[in-house]
Amino acid sequence: MQKTGLVLSACARTWKSVQMASSGVARRNPLENKVALVTASTDGIGLAIAQRLAQDGARVVLSSRKQENVDRAVAALQGEGLSVTGTVCHVGKAEDRERLVATAVKLHGGVDILISNAAVNPVFGNIMDVTEEVWDKVLDINVKATALLTKAVVPEMEKRGGGSVVIVASIGAYSPFPGLGPYNVSKTALLGLTKNLARELAQRNIRVNCLAPGLIKTSFSQLLWMGKEREESIKETMQIRRLGKPEDCAGIVSFLCSEDASYITGETVVVGGGTPSRL
Ligand SMILES: NC(=O)c1ccc[n+]([C@@H]2O[C@H](COP(=O)([O-])OP(=O)(O)OC[C@H]3O[C@@H](n4cnc5c(N)ncnc54)[C@H](OP(=O)(O)O)[C@@H]3O)[C@@H](O)[C@H]2O)c1
Repeated sequence: MQKTGLVLSACARTWKSVQMASSGVARRNPLENKVALVTASTDGIGLAIAQRLAQDGARVVLSSRKQENVDRAVAALQGEGLSVTGTVCHVGKAEDRERLVATAVKLHGGVDILISNAAVNPVFGNIMDVTEEVWDKVLDINVKATALLTKAVVPEMEKRGGGSVVIVASIGAYSPFPGLGPYNVSKTALLGLTKNLARELAQRNIRVNCLAPGLIKTSFSQLLWMGKEREESIKETMQIRRLGKPEDCAGIVSFLCSEDASYITGETVVVGGGTPSRL
């Protein structure tokens, strides 16, 4: 009798786990117990990614250059009941990058996920007119800081047995936006950085993938879409007839950081609404 009871309760447990898997309940917190660092995450795409990672169960450390922006974003996401904290991090400053990693280690005991999202575009015009200072700034912030921040988190990821890095590039990496030469070039470099890091870090169980957003409606890109007429004419060229929203970029990043993507590294996902310029 007791034996029958044990068998029945084992069957019930198995059935429950099947139900959970088929109903999706078991997948509700795919990033549970993970600690994530997101750069440039007090606005736009970075903020949407930080929000989604936290909704999916991660403890997220937000960051950007200005303390007031960090405070505002942290308060907003905490107000939604999400597990987020924040610190100032200008990605071009070595001491800020170190503090970002140290903050995660102090608060949460380590780092599992890095989203490298910060970028600048200080000029509009021809590459032939760009000064050395501009090249230095664009390559320092967009490319070099990504490589150096990855270098800073890798030892922490190794202590946890592995990790996941997602680098935010741009569709401009494939098909240049007019007038944004150095920016486009820096984003193409990030595709190469992704592939090189993926190869180098795979043996340490660290995956490196890349996101290439199309035109996403944020303040960073407003020069390209501002004005009703301009926005309408851009929409006409898209296969999906709208501009992108920051949230369009968030779910795919969460997926790339999850166990479901454990056999994916060195890849770039374009979130571009079918932007024809890529063809
Ligand atoms: N929007 C688009 O259409 C589009 C398309 C393709 C790719 N992207 C890429 O997506 C990423 C985010 O762009 P976005 O459109 O979301 O921009 P956004 O809405 O303007 O947000 C920019 C964020 O970056 C922070 N930031 C700026 N410089 C920083 C620095 N040096 N170090 C750390 N944080 C910094 C800002 O906060 P603080 O002012 O407090 O620093 C803010 O949180 C960039 O890599 C961009 O190239 C955007």
